Amino acid sequence: MAEVFGRKLLAGKNAVITGGGSGINFAIARRFADHGAKVALIGRTKEKLDAAVDEITKSGGSASGHPADVRDYNALAAALKSARDDHGEIDLVVCGAAGNFPAPALGMSANGFKAVVDIDLLGTFNTCRAAFEHLRRPGASIINISATQAFTPMPMQAHVCAAKAGVDMLTKCLAIEWGPEGVRVNSIAPGAVDDTEGMRRLAPTAEIRNQFTRSIPLQRFATKDEIADLALFLSSDAAKFITGAVVVCDGGQSLAGLGVNMAAAMRPST
Ligand code: COA
Repeated sequence: MAEVFGRKLLAGKNAVITGGGSGINFAIARRFADHGAKVALIGRTKEKLDAAVDEITKSGGSASGHPADVRDYNALAAALKSARDDHGEIDLVVCGAAGNFPAPALGMSANGFKAVVDIDLLGTFNTCRAAFEHLRRPGASIINISATQAFTPMPMQAHVCAAKAGVDMLTKCLAIEWGPEGVRVNSIAPGAVDDTEGMRRLAPTAEIRNQFTRSIPLQRFATKDEIADLALFLSSDAAKFITGAVVVCDGGQSLAGLGVNMAAAMRPST
């Protein structure tokens, strides 16, 4: 779906996407490129970035790779500067770099908890903070990739729940501070997304996957492209009065309550 109603929605825009070498973030990068944006991908692994850039370029898009770990402010600032030098002022930022491993609170060290908070929350702050000076103002849009763990407590996810709750509050604070500069800041909170590293870790067996599916009112996982479509909308002019929003895309899974739980319990297993 390169075009909606015959036009590219991001023509002439420059985008930066952290964690853009794989998963949901790569799907967003591809969607942005299909819609005419030049995309700069930031990630830890150069080979992954090279492969992602290659794939986008081969399908006619414009992309470049800028290796950096979002936990390292100076390296990240240098990567953002090189993205700006390559493409020009930055219109769109997607803070997507994330880490996760399922473990109970007592099964993770202080350093394990910190590793996830550093990637997800500090990494998002670092990206927004270092990108600001390169943003086209007014007009820029930032999307922080959160998760439903931000407001739905989950076992084995204390680190992610805490980090993503912080990400959503950061989104709202920056929306207030940077609104007068013409910069929009929103969060996307996906639920279970198919064919991602995160879900491979959280639902490693067919049985757990089936339980997840039964708890989702729409009875399936999201596709990466569905999250990319939401990012496209939020980055486009169609969303130009939306800021500080946390947009949930989870098939209704986080509508936790007796009704949803009863419906899941009563549904026959497949
Ligand atoms: N259970 C408990 N602790 C774990 C763990 C697990 N499954 N995996 C890692 N840790 C701990 C490590 O033991 C270490 O703590 P320690 O120093 O006290 O031993 C700490 O987490 C950091 O691990 P390390 O591997 O050095 O960190 P890293 O920075 O290289 O990797 C992670 C960060 C742990 C988040 C890693 O899983 C990662 O890189 N993930 C990226 C991909 C990903 O998670 N994708 C899903 C996104 S939703």
